[in-house]
Amino acid sequence: MANVLARNPISLNGSWHYIVDVQEEGYYDYRMNPTRSGFFRNAKPRRPEDLIEYDFDKASTMQVPGDWNTQDPRLFFYEGTVWFEREFEWHPDLDRSRTILYFGAVNYDAYVYVNGSLAGHHVGGFTPFNFDVTDLMRDGYNFVVVKVDNKRHAEDVPTQIFDWWNYGGITRDVLLIDVEPVYIENYNLQLVSLEGRRLGFSVKLNSETAGRQVTLSIPELKIKKTVTTDAKGTATIYMKAKPQLWSPETPKLYDVVIEQGNEVIRDEVGFRKIETRGKQLLLNGKPIFLRGVSIHEEKAFGGGRANSTEDAHTLLSWAKELGCNYVRLAHYPHNEYAVREAERMGILVWSEIPVYWTIAWSNPDTYANAERQLTDMIKRDQNRANIIIWSIANETPHSSERDAFLSRLAKHARSLDSTRLISMAMEVTSASNYRNRLQDNMSEYVDVVSFNQYVGWYRDVNDASKMTWEIPYDKPVIISEFGGGAKYGLHGEKNQRWTEEFQENLYRENLAMLDKIEGLAGTSPWILKDFRSPRRVLNGIQDYYNRKGLFSDRGEKKKAFYVLQEWYKGK
Ligand code: GCU
Repeated sequence: MANVLARNPISLNGSWHYIVDVQEEGYYDYRMNPTRSGFFRNAKPRRPEDLIEYDFDKASTMQVPGDWNTQDPRLFFYEGTVWFEREFEWHPDLDRSRTILYFGAVNYDAYVYVNGSLAGHHVGGFTPFNFDVTDLMRDGYNFVVVKVDNKRHAEDVPTQIFDWWNYGGITRDVLLIDVEPVYIENYNLQLVSLEGRRLGFSVKLNSETAGRQVTLSIPELKIKKTVTTDAKGTATIYMKAKPQLWSPETPKLYDVVIEQGNEVIRDEVGFRKIETRGKQLLLNGKPIFLRGVSIHEEKAFGGGRANSTEDAHTLLSWAKELGCNYVRLAHYPHNEYAVREAERMGILVWSEIPVYWTIAWSNPDTYANAERQLTDMIKRDQNRANIIIWSIANETPHSSERDAFLSRLAKHARSLDSTRLISMAMEVTSASNYRNRLQDNMSEYVDVVSFNQYVGWYRDVNDASKMTWEIPYDKPVIISEFGGGAKYGLHGEKNQRWTEEFQENLYRENLAMLDKIEGLAGTSPWILKDFRSPRRVLNGIQDYYNRKGLFSDRGEKKKAFYVLQEWYKGK
């Protein structure tokens, strides 16, 4: 269900009880068979002799949305199962006879129970999901229990290893939404042609119900159109309009109202056109250079998973200080608040699914999981004008299985959304004597050729400005990552690793190198701020932080910040 916040939801955010269940005692019996009397029953002893060996009422609480790693010091490194429980009052709304339970995201594997019965199961830590729980609800006292497991497995997406903290928990909003039996599941409102100034609107109901009237109003554009759904419960209409176009300089959003029966959904939508012409990237018909930075979805000041407009505003304001008009939200779909805040702030977005490093390419379940995350990412944010690129992968090793997997994903993304660009973060595989050549079979399937390169850090220290790049594709080029680590406040010679001077010099050298790359349409250096990673164990320097930030985790600017800020003034 799209745009849930506009559907008058009941928030179940707040304090939830939790039980840490390392051996999943609450799910399996001692023979490892799923038990019927698991913690999802939320059972209470009725008679004095009753044996119930858990009690949510006596359990500690933590905040939802949030991660357990930064809320309970015992769970900082914990990967496993934690049970969450919350009680709430609910009374049926006779006009809206269906009830939907929605999660913005749960990392990673979630079993959801309402009043002791299974409502549904979901895997994937960064996309929304919801269940129709109408038949499980009671008038009055209700409880929901969620079994969350963030253990990593080779067949998962992401797979076993990744360079970010595996924050576990119910990391985004939990909402209860009462709807009519037939409701608007999703809609799509876009500028379809720049010249003709034509808008396209399509709507999809939750069921294949024909003959339903759906009215679209955009008061400021004096638009009020009614469409009637077909046997598939969908409808589409095109209309002429002269909207002011959305751009970083003028992030114009229009109030939009969509009505069906008693249902009224409000949204803010911007209109813009993104396209490529040869090696040029065009926004609203004009060439644009993407002055970017990469960002992880992590609160500043050591606060764990970010999940609010305020969290996003802090990080995006730092990016604005850098001179950015674009951000790469790495390596997974960030929360909807962040995408919408970027849209209001005039910041273009690259949004990505966590097909990261070496995925189980030949496993059909892994493919289905990746495709579902891609679908859910696109369906959630398809009306956001600031999202211009869907990225389907990051740094994946070349193989025919990989090519088959990724080309299928690229086609799927294009079938869902032909108005945005498809890309992925590639790697340079052939480099000798300062000559670098990008060769990737996937360049055929993407609209923008993007690659990560770490000249000056993982390879060839101090030679960046001598490098040449052969990128034999007539498509815009984005350097989706470059950078190096520095501990804020550590100073020394520019050849001394981990000093701010080393990182500063690396940026100078790399930016001089980027200036020579033909068709460069943008970049998103790695990374805005230092972020937690279990792979970064160097004591006294990393201490479980990846230190490639231009800001420390506390928002302190490193010397390299000013080098990039200066360079962006010229772009
Ligand atoms: C990779 C990867 C990032 C990682 C970075 C690094 O390119 O995409 O996720 O954090 O390099 O090594 O710092």
